[in-house]
Amino acid sequence: MGHATETTNHSIPEVLKAIVSKEMNHALWLNTLSLLEHIGSRKILLTQSSEDTSEMILRHATEEARHALFFKKAARTIQPEFRSGYQNSSLVRGTAARIYFAKLDTLVRRNLKKVFTDERTFTYLAYLYTTTVIEKRAMVVYNAYDEILNQSGSPIRLTNLILEEEGHLSEMSAEMYRLDPNAEQRLALLEAEEAKIFARFWRQIGEFSLN
Ligand SMILES: [Fe+2]
Ligand SMILES: [Fe+2]
Repeated sequence: MGHATETTNHSIPEVLKAIVSKEMNHALWLNTLSLLEHIGSRKILLTQSSEDTSEMILRHATEEARHALFFKKAARTIQPEFRSGYQNSSLVRGTAARIYFAKLDTLVRRNLKKVFTDERTFTYLAYLYTTTVIEKRAMVVYNAYDEILNQSGSPIRLTNLILEEEGHLSEMSAEMYRLDPNAEQRLALLEAEEAKIFARFWRQIGEFSLN
């Protein structure tokens, strides 16, 4: 099975359309997005809490937490009796989602460790790169998803959420370029690596969507 074939079979809009077409699967998908936002929010607070903690950090952590709640509520809009936790049975391939996040985190840390020996700068840049790469991916998925929601006349829309993520991306980009002279190159490299990690994750979502 070639890589190109897999990508075609599991294209982002196609998989999302299949998921949205079944209420139960759609609720599980929304809860999975909630989990990813929650992991993001928790990670920001866990790693970026120090005397340097800025308004930007507080805003990002708060907005990711709100996004987690937004998706959780949206799952309830689709299925009012939807469970409130993050059990694997309440998620679309929950383990794969967690692995995607963890692998990306490891990739970024390994790359930065070689260059940035000052712990504070390292930790801050790890946050900036991990989040930027994830949010760039999220923009692709969220925009495709929002278009499908719009076409299907869904009461759920991602307009505000997408605006907030765009705000995060531009703020983080400014910080990356300020602190890392090789920001452009490094980001390109990390995005290329992320694409491989995402392809594995998305293949699993694609398999789920056929259920
Ligand atoms: Fe978010
Ligand atoms: Fe964000």
